[in-house]
Amino acid sequence: MEFNLEDIYKKIQYSEIDLKRALKYFDIREKDLDTLRNALDIIKDVPVEFFDQFYDHLLQFPETANILNKDKDLIENLKLKQKIYFTNMLRANFDISYIKEKIKIGMVHLFFGG
Ligand code: HEM
Repeated sequence: MEFNLEDIYKKIQYSEIDLKRALKYFDIREKDLDTLRNALDIIKDVPVEFFDQFYDHLLQFPETANILNKDKDLIENLKLKQKIYFTNMLRANFDISYIKEKIKIGMVHLFFGG
């Protein structure tokens, strides 16, 4: 990848204060975090099939289809990454490392044009 994540993290300098502010801004309270965790408790696992429709949808558009058809295993790999992404969201441990992961995902999409 043609970007250095450490440089980007340094530039953004995301802190605990920013995190608290963001949670307040989006009105995410402790009870909301519990709701997410309870949902994971109920479903236990985010199945990869959950993402089938998402990629079927993206394959209908030439711009996104071109990106996704570049490698034959890409979509299946992305479904696994989405599974981790959603599982982590439902774990609701919104800390600095969670934010760093989101910044990384954002950069990956900027880079791939996805
Ligand atoms: C709700 C929207 C989306 C979510 C939650 C999502 C999630 C993710 C995640 C978690 C990754 C892995 C990033 C990493 O390497 O750590 C990823 C990579 C990627 N996504 Fe998405 N994505 C979304 C939309 C899209 C769309 C619309 C496209 C368009 C084609 C796309 C194409 C890609 C590509 C090409 C990669 C990189 C694959 C690689 O590493 O080779 N994504 N996405």
